[in-house]
Amino acid sequence: MFVTVLLLLGALCAHKGHGQESEATQRPGHVSVVIIGATGDLARKYLWQGFFDAYVKQVKGGNTFSFYGGGQSPSDKATPLMFEILKGVSCPKDMSQERCALLKDQFLRLAQYRQLKTLEHYQDLAKHIEKKLQDEAMTETGRLFYLSVPAYAYADIADKINQSCRPTIGGWLKVVLEKPFGHDLTSAEVLASQLASSLKEEEMYRIDHYLGKQVIAKILPFRKENKKFLDPIWNKHHIERVEIVLKETLDVQGRMSFYDQYGVIRDVIQNHLTEVMMLLTMRLPSNLSSSEEVVQNKLRILDSLLPLGKNQAVIGQYQGYNSEVQLELNKTKDHISLTPTYAAVLAHIDEAQFEGVPILLISGKMLDKRVGYARVVFKNDIFCLQNQNGVHCKPRQIIFYFGHGSLQYPAILVSKNLFKPVLMDAEWKEVTEHSDVSVLGLPISDYYVHTPTKQHEAYSELIAHIFSGHKNSFISIENLLSSWSLWTPLLSSLDSAYPRIYPGGEDNGHMLDIHLKGMDISYKSEVVIISPDQTAGTSANSAKVLQGKFCNADMVSAWSEELVGQLAVDMQEAAEAAVLESGVFHLALSGGSTPLALFHRLALHHFSFPWRNTHVWMVDERCVPLAEVESNFRTLHDHLLHHVRIPYFNIHPMPVELNHRLCVEEDRGAQIYESDIRTLVNGSSFHFVLLGVGFDGHTASLFPGAKAEEHGQSLVALTESPVKPHQRMSLTFTAINRARRVALLVMGKGKHEMITQLSRLKNSTDRWPVTNVKPDNNRLVWYIDYDALIG
Ligand code: BG6
Repeated sequence: MFVTVLLLLGALCAHKGHGQESEATQRPGHVSVVIIGATGDLARKYLWQGFFDAYVKQVKGGNTFSFYGGGQSPSDKATPLMFEILKGVSCPKDMSQERCALLKDQFLRLAQYRQLKTLEHYQDLAKHIEKKLQDEAMTETGRLFYLSVPAYAYADIADKINQSCRPTIGGWLKVVLEKPFGHDLTSAEVLASQLASSLKEEEMYRIDHYLGKQVIAKILPFRKENKKFLDPIWNKHHIERVEIVLKETLDVQGRMSFYDQYGVIRDVIQNHLTEVMMLLTMRLPSNLSSSEEVVQNKLRILDSLLPLGKNQAVIGQYQGYNSEVQLELNKTKDHISLTPTYAAVLAHIDEAQFEGVPILLISGKMLDKRVGYARVVFKNDIFCLQNQNGVHCKPRQIIFYFGHGSLQYPAILVSKNLFKPVLMDAEWKEVTEHSDVSVLGLPISDYYVHTPTKQHEAYSELIAHIFSGHKNSFISIENLLSSWSLWTPLLSSLDSAYPRIYPGGEDNGHMLDIHLKGMDISYKSEVVIISPDQTAGTSANSAKVLQGKFCNADMVSAWSEELVGQLAVDMQEAAEAAVLESGVFHLALSGGSTPLALFHRLALHHFSFPWRNTHVWMVDERCVPLAEVESNFRTLHDHLLHHVRIPYFNIHPMPVELNHRLCVEEDRGAQIYESDIRTLVNGSSFHFVLLGVGFDGHTASLFPGAKAEEHGQSLVALTESPVKPHQRMSLTFTAINRARRVALLVMGKGKHEMITQLSRLKNSTDRWPVTNVKPDNNRLVWYIDYDALIG
């Protein structure tokens, strides 16, 4: 029954795995395709059809094929199921019935089911393939394993493939993996390292089926073909916003065990929508088929996205979701799932080209319509006095329409008031006859519309690309981890956030409409349905900011986010008052990780902060070159200075590197800094000094044991830290205590012990340097979060 049919030429099968397509010169041989999870949902809906399509395309090629369906079930149970699926595959529309019947028959005869559970099963499969190669005197082209199984099974299967199923010499191995590739950055890294112990990166093909959608695959070529029109307008001066939207009408019943752990951001935004965003905003590669260049350009854009925090997302959950979870996952009636089924995220790219351009990524289940698109909306500064409907007054936009919705077919639409696009591709055609529909606010006749001449399923496209080794259509490991680095902080900040409950379908009305305000996104309407006592850690009560006393000074305390918010507000108030009074605000900032949240807050929320009048000084510095990651200045630069508009000449890094050496007394760096302070800062009295406290009670770079008065009237000194890098430059207590205002910021459970000890001290002591911070007139305020205060 199992016969290999020898097929004639046109080899598309790749050999190198990581390289480029063209393998036409490769000697024909035998390809074994193994789909693990052969009777599962994905295989039934797309994979077998995709492999049949690939087989039909390659039927004139010189390779021969075997198709193995694999799975946990024994063969007698799964074989009939699998063949039911195989019989359902369809031929291309333009193929004759006879030819179709012949090819389907051949395909069925090339396929068999094998139980693949234990290592022996895999060894048997390998023996079977080798025997077949021998019996039929065939050389081996390669083996393709498609893992259509839950991700927790990947590492084990990869290990078995590695141990027993590697091809004979000269043959390639390709292992295809489906998302989810982890749940967050850490789990993605763990999975990556487990897989890397069995497979080489070039052997892995991580699928994001959106990259196989024809319109999405066309984004880069479209940008290249229309470069002359796009170059002048593909920037912040012309683009008003970018929207990447996937609206779905279905619920998630039947997928709860997966979905409830993932939610909409992990399910489609971290991957599908992020990929589309990168294709739209990445620097156009000079060679579109160079995987290295494409990956590098994608990484660059991911790296330049501003961090995403709670204020950059809104989340929702359709009303029936919770009871579906209870039912499907066997949970009790009081179980509450916070998994979002809807999310809208506002991203910004920190690059001159796109600075300030809002990028919206939106997706949800149980919405009013099914539609997916990416739209670039351009600014329109034409004002039509008389004919408001005139072509120049209409919205100007380019839409990459993935499908469904009012149009019902994939297309690229360019509004006619922009330009007439060119598509240098025989597989695309212009649509000139339209039915009477409108697409995103414009009648279809207002667009130039291009669509693929033949529509292909994304999976069929990707399966063809796996054979041809076209790595650009897959997710590289760097790309994957970098995307998780972007999304993980947002996901953790939303961990215990309450989603807005929406009824589903048309009834959602305006409930999910959103409002953009600067860098923040919020729901447009104030509807809050959920009772506050269910919001662990985020209830109205816990959001309060408390005022109190600590070590005889004022104290502000709150949960970290509110605390940082309060400190940022206080700092801005001090800045505005100083600018009003003297036209300038002198701010001295500390290093370390504690102030990072404050820096982000200032960068993302305080657009009216008087940066132009602010001088930024350093409280202390490590004796390393300023560009090194260990340098306090480097941290300050990356997390704050780089994101705000502050004149260069207002920035004062400490001169730790002089005469090509670091912190050498004779180079007089401390004195130079001191002299700058004396020259620029009135009375050497900073308006605001931000300090932190170390576990040992050190502040600035003033460590335990050093005498408070040892620096006399000096404002700046070279000091020694007990930890590396030992040499430091620091403001002295004299400089600190002269400040108009000092804020001491302490956050995190790890600081609780130290705060407790400090609270017991009666007097200042050199063993606890921070106790020597004593500016006159109670100008010191402690900002301590609840974790540090209560533990
Ligand atoms: C999948 C998600 O990756 O993409 C699904 O797991 C989602 O939840 C689907 O429905 C959307 O894909 P498409 O091709 O139907 O737009």
